[in-house]
Amino acid sequence: MDRSVDVVLIKGDGIGPEITASVVKIFAEAEVPINWIEGFAGYQAYEETGNPLPEEVIRQITEYKIALKAPLTTPVGKGFRSANVTLRQRLDLYSNVRPALSLPGVNSAYKDVNLVTFRENTQGLYIGKERIIEPDSHVELIGVITRKASERIIRAAFEYARKNKLKKVTLGHKANILKESSGLFLKVGGEIAADYPDIEFQDMIIDNMAMQMAMRPQQFDVIVTTNLFGDIISDLASGLVGGLGVTPGANIGDDYAVFEAVHGSAPDIAGQNKANPTALLFSSLMMLRHLGMDDKHDLIRKAALTVLANPELRTGDLGGKGTTTSFTDAICKEIAANK
Ligand code: NAI
Repeated sequence: MDRSVDVVLIKGDGIGPEITASVVKIFAEAEVPINWIEGFAGYQAYEETGNPLPEEVIRQITEYKIALKAPLTTPVGKGFRSANVTLRQRLDLYSNVRPALSLPGVNSAYKDVNLVTFRENTQGLYIGKERIIEPDSHVELIGVITRKASERIIRAAFEYARKNKLKKVTLGHKANILKESSGLFLKVGGEIAADYPDIEFQDMIIDNMAMQMAMRPQQFDVIVTTNLFGDIISDLASGLVGGLGVTPGANIGDDYAVFEAVHGSAPDIAGQNKANPTALLFSSLMMLRHLGMDDKHDLIRKAALTVLANPELRTGDLGGKGTTTSFTDAICKEIAANK
């Protein structure tokens, strides 16, 4: 019986095809039982079909439930709505989950960070409601916070903490100024926390949180916050552990999950065999945990960490001499030696 799992693979724009080729090769070496179903989205899809997020790719993810997505280019202006934002909204992928974990040997400000950010992915100031009151002079925008959306992201953060035996959830907010909107998020946080007496709950004003993360990031286990704050704080977290090239992410809803690197399509290095595939690889490892393929997860992760610990083998963004392909081949070699 074929027990393979079907996963939609979106190769994306810029460095996307190079880093997805790397993940596919590493998964093949590790004999991960996945059938890749190719999905098409992004700038290239826009040029060919007039739509950066064709209905077909939405249909595929709806059918297969899980996707691994490389970065998609979003041109500035031109009325081009981000395919990433649309995807999160269309599939109701309300949890944006980003672990930030110090990696042995990788140059970073701290060696002992292990935190994960849960960012509310569907509301806040990112709902796209901007209104021009007077051109070039006065614009208004609307942010939305609802009890329902707050409850589910905060609960997801607590559930993650419990499952991974983490001690504390810290909620980031600005309820001192945004008394109703951020205030509602904070209030709901306190209510949900009462269901998890085994986990410490703490709240922190978001600007203080940014400072605390820069000064003493070890104090955080799970951070939960609203959309805009989470966007900024999670990039800050990735900067603490070596940057965008090594930070994975996932967008998870009740029905579907899309795993993706935190970084963009890096057009400045596209097609040059320079891209670091680590962030997409680690996103795909989150996917393996999600699918319950823990043995394959452990095999690939161990191999990747061994290679990353060798400065010669790393890609240029991490100060190494490796290329996308030589880095990938080194991981495959480690896997072959360990399986
Ligand atoms: P970016 O993350 O693509 O690049 C920023 C810098 O980091 C560049 O110097 C790039 O070369 C470097 N970099 C990024 N990933 C790397 C990797 N894996 N290996 C080595 N170096 C890497 O951000 P930027 O330039 O602001 O955005 C480029 C495009 O990507 C834009 O169209 C943006 O909208 C899109 N984007 C897409 C995202 C997604 O699909 N989830 C997320 C962020 C941006």
